[in-house]
Amino acid sequence: MSASGAALPLRFDGKVALVTGAGGGLGRTYALLFAERGAAVVVNDLGGSIKGEGKSSSAADRVVEEIRARGGKAVPNYDSVEQGEKIVQTALDAYGRIDIVINNAGILRDRSFARTSDLDWDLIQRVHLRGSFKVTRAAWNHMRNQKYGRIIMTASSSGIYGNFGQANYSAAKLGLLGLSNTLAIEGQKYNIQCNTIAPTADSRLTQTVLPQELLDALKPEFVAPLVVWLCHESCQENGSLFDVGAGWIGKLRWERTLGATVRQKDQQMTPEAVRDNWERICNFENATKPKSSKEAISTLYEVLNKLDEKQGVSMNPTSGSIQTSTSSIDPAEAIGKKIPLTEYTYTNLQPILYALGVGMTTKDPDHLKFLFEGNEEFSCLPTFGVIPAQDAMNGALASIPGLNIDFTKVLHGEQYLKMHKPLPTSGTLKSKGTIADILDKGSGAVILLDVHTYNEKDLVCYNQFSIFVVGAGGFGGKRTSDKVKVTMNPPNRPPDAIMSDITSVDQAALYRLNGDWNPLHIDPNFAAFGGFKKPILHGLCSMGFAARHVLKQYANNDVTNFKAIKVRFAKPVIPGQTLETEMWRDGNFIHLQTKVKETNEIVLAGAYVVLGETVYKPKTNGIGMREELQSDLVFAEVSRRIKNVGKELVKKVNAIFQWDITKDGNTAAQWTIDLKNGSGELYKGAARHRADTIFTLSDDDFVQVVSGKLDPQKAFFAGQLKVKGNIMLSQKLEMILKDYAKL
Ligand code: NAI
Repeated sequence: MSASGAALPLRFDGKVALVTGAGGGLGRTYALLFAERGAAVVVNDLGGSIKGEGKSSSAADRVVEEIRARGGKAVPNYDSVEQGEKIVQTALDAYGRIDIVINNAGILRDRSFARTSDLDWDLIQRVHLRGSFKVTRAAWNHMRNQKYGRIIMTASSSGIYGNFGQANYSAAKLGLLGLSNTLAIEGQKYNIQCNTIAPTADSRLTQTVLPQELLDALKPEFVAPLVVWLCHESCQENGSLFDVGAGWIGKLRWERTLGATVRQKDQQMTPEAVRDNWERICNFENATKPKSSKEAISTLYEVLNKLDEKQGVSMNPTSGSIQTSTSSIDPAEAIGKKIPLTEYTYTNLQPILYALGVGMTTKDPDHLKFLFEGNEEFSCLPTFGVIPAQDAMNGALASIPGLNIDFTKVLHGEQYLKMHKPLPTSGTLKSKGTIADILDKGSGAVILLDVHTYNEKDLVCYNQFSIFVVGAGGFGGKRTSDKVKVTMNPPNRPPDAIMSDITSVDQAALYRLNGDWNPLHIDPNFAAFGGFKKPILHGLCSMGFAARHVLKQYANNDVTNFKAIKVRFAKPVIPGQTLETEMWRDGNFIHLQTKVKETNEIVLAGAYVVLGETVYKPKTNGIGMREELQSDLVFAEVSRRIKNVGKELVKKVNAIFQWDITKDGNTAAQWTIDLKNGSGELYKGAARHRADTIFTLSDDDFVQVVSGKLDPQKAFFAGQLKVKGNIMLSQKLEMILKDYAKL
């Protein structure tokens, strides 16, 4: 096949590659190829025998000469890899940097295990494992500081599968894979990538082991291109293992059987139980392929869930992913049962803590009345009404006869809150809970828990918690109930207003101080057990954000105007993500849905707020009622350009950009330029596929930037322009936006 028309060749100009053991065999080939592609190369070789005896400078010198003769750049180094610092210093002295480390040097001291001496063992570990450690550690900080590094470890099929007579070598070689796996994790955030290869090639190491006709087909040149590709800055592979030889390359990964749990709750685990389950333990049908230790460990969590009902791990209030349950529900016995009265005493502190927990800030002057007890209008946010009621749900459910619930399977599905009176800013509230109804949804049961909260004799608020118990359905109950406070889908038109807030990375850490102590929201290990990448935000916290968005947009933050809210918790939120509430006004009824802006996923669905009948002044900067934006004109022109040259742009740019245009601090319009799919497209609204870069700036600043009056870099540093995602891609925008000054 002809290479013409292919993408650009992979070059390493300006990069410095260090190859250990490069005086011959595979290492020499790597060094030659890197040099041919523009890298300056440090050719390291101790120049000893196969068994690691003796030393000489000639091996490294020969290869350096070869490279120079071909017009490349190279310097020799004759130290043993155990002198990692010295070898890296050679790179720094000669070229001032180090970008690539190929840990390749190796020796063999094959012996059957019984005859393996201490020296046989130690020498092999020292050259392969310790040597790779020493060289890599010496280069690591330089790579970290420059935020770029590529490392290769050299394993062997003997390490992966074992090989007679190579106990010492196999141990070292698989040790290198373990080292590589961890470096891949630790280096990731510094753009240091580490991969491992298990090569097969003709060299002095294999000449005594493999037949000549096979060796002829196993040129080192059939391995080197993989190493070079893995080290290129455009290659994103990290933490992987490749089998390579004869021009063939394959990737390896771990596989694990579904396995079997061989113990029962409160019973001893026995060797006999292991024996009896042996077939299941070893059966690879439907095997899984865990990619990380977290993923591997999450299985244990599911096992514990199944076994230890009484561990009290509550998944509420959010959605989770656990499939089986040991719950049993008897609706006839449970429905109508009362939960023992709970009492909640609080001072000014708790409503303030709650307001901070749902993202209120002194940066917003009109938040002060929720944050400062000395403020004339000091008030309690209406959604604080869930706090006194939540105790009824957390503890007391367990005491209800007929509800034998596995609390590890409990998800908080929906929430309804109705205000009867504004909440006092301190005092003692009493809550009475009742099991209003229980629904059978097949895959699970929904328990409707009604909680009425009183201040003395006055009803202050009413909550309905919808609690989904995974796996507890199928008891022959009804599917719906007139007790349910139903969700409502938003109207089929663009939202009338949008308000967004970035949650802090500590949002859940703060919100939990309101009394929801579930470790799912703070402990990374616990969250991993539950199948989440990170601790997740409380669903009720997201609800608090959405409620105050509506309160501000349509009720001037007047808590007496807030009558009710209903939400369904559709997806988890990771603290640090941006919550964006879309609102549609229909009289005093406000439909809403809240999305995570970064992923465009709806997290609060079918939601609404009911406001009081009293007159309120809607803001004029909501999307539905805004005046024309200047940026609209620019986007109209962009659309015209994309129609003309979209295809070409898709080829060159290959990215999706989203603009959030603000006016008076609120999002006034969203535009997406998709230069990744088809022949390019511009459309209004958030990106339908994940945006690579999201820009947020005001309508005025946007026009200033595209007309060349405001330098985007300065705008960025001044905080006028916010960029999320791949910032480097912004450079490609010039192709689309340049020459606007002429507009
Ligand atoms: P080779 O013997 O041609 O190259 C290894 C080089 O490392 C030699 O030039 C040697 O002088 C040098 N070296 C040995 N100890 C050193 C030390 N302490 N410090 C610096 N340099 C040292 O062998 P080959 O086949 O090119 O091996 C390269 C790597 O690939 C080795 O790690 C080997 O274990 C591995 N490997 C090779 C396979 C093959 O089929 N050739 C199979 C599996 C793994």
